[in-house]
Amino acid sequence: MANIIVGVTGGIAAYKAAELVSLLGKQGHDVRCIMTEAAQQFITPLTLQTLSGNPVYTNMFQLQQNPEWKVEHIGLAHWADLMLIVPATADFIGKVANGLADDLLSTCVMASQAPVYFAPAMNDQMYQNPLVQRNIQTLRDAGYGFVDPVEGNLACGTSGKGKMASVEQIADVVNTLRPQDLAGMRFVITAGPTREPIDPVRFLTNHSSGKMGYALARQAAYRGADVVLISGPVQLEAPYGVQMVYVESAQQMFEAMQQYYADADVIIKSAAVADYRPKTVSAQKIKKTDDDLTLELERNADILAWLGAHKTHQVLIGFAAETNDVAQNALGKLQRKQLDFIAANDVTQTHSGFGKDTNQVTLYGADGSVNALPILSKDDTANRILDVAIAYKTKLK
Ligand code: PMT
Repeated sequence: MANIIVGVTGGIAAYKAAELVSLLGKQGHDVRCIMTEAAQQFITPLTLQTLSGNPVYTNMFQLQQNPEWKVEHIGLAHWADLMLIVPATADFIGKVANGLADDLLSTCVMASQAPVYFAPAMNDQMYQNPLVQRNIQTLRDAGYGFVDPVEGNLACGTSGKGKMASVEQIADVVNTLRPQDLAGMRFVITAGPTREPIDPVRFLTNHSSGKMGYALARQAAYRGADVVLISGPVQLEAPYGVQMVYVESAQQMFEAMQQYYADADVIIKSAAVADYRPKTVSAQKIKKTDDDLTLELERNADILAWLGAHKTHQVLIGFAAETNDVAQNALGKLQRKQLDFIAANDVTQTHSGFGKDTNQVTLYGADGSVNALPILSKDDTANRILDVAIAYKTKLK
């Protein structure tokens, strides 16, 4: 568990810092808060002290609170494994970008050897201002991290990009402190269902929620990989630090994969891709009549089989969602699609498959290896699959 400083600056999103402190505490982290003077106009130190269970630091010149530290701001900066500036105002970003350190929070940022991440929150015009963007770029170039704001309704009554990222997404940054054993590797992962249009209002699809693929992308990124996630339409937030490519149909997923596969070290296809699409897509909504309707379907490209035929150095991992003869069907796909591994997924089990938070897969390798994983959260399943992929890739080198 990590020692985290949450630095709160003066914006309306300061109230969300309280939620963040509470969440980080529940996750077992030791959290200490530093508030600027302006932040205290929005929430009180008492709120953050109660939620963190630690004293809140507000003043460069207050009497020493921790007798172990000779100089408070240096002691705090050394104590932290991570600093999160939540919210980060344009003023505070500008101050740090220009090397100023005139209050407790800015001196701590300056003195810290730990990673520092800013979560900007401000009016969208302010966020787009070239001076603010220049300051953000200066900080990025100097190695500071950002949890970018999102589009949404803003406190000033307008809407646009300036709303602070969700508290969950900011808390996710802690995971970047984990060992970076996948650093320098590029993963291309697919997730979710595809939609095959019938007419402007209808489509064919399946029950994939994207949870398995998003867990793979999230965990690979936490472990330092460079990750591209090609996602079908799902209701999930983009994992932190992952390059997103949104698609709808199998054909679009195929085209995206053709664009990204060549540079990948590892490709994992957990998406549930439609094997068939309507042969013709009606330009207008199909009207009901008294007769039955027959849809003629044609084959979609098998993306995984195409990858199997075109791979050069990539480790290729497929999934097999099966309802019967699970091992036999999965092994057939492993061989036919020329994969390195296949994760056989019995989707009839209550704890496994579509939409669930847990999964149970058996990983079969082209090298004859069999790894039967127990029921695990999709994140833990993802890590076990990544472990197998990386061990195999290392062996190949
Ligand atoms: O998204 P969740 O709700 O978390 O559910 C997870 C999951 C059940 C979708 C996932 O664990 C899973 O099993 N994914 C594979 C689903 C699937 O389509 O299996 P399949 O047996 O039909 O396809 C085999 C493999 O070929 C898959 O890797 C698939 O991505 C790939 N494929 C299939 C058809 C096609 N036209 N192109 C492909 O690349």
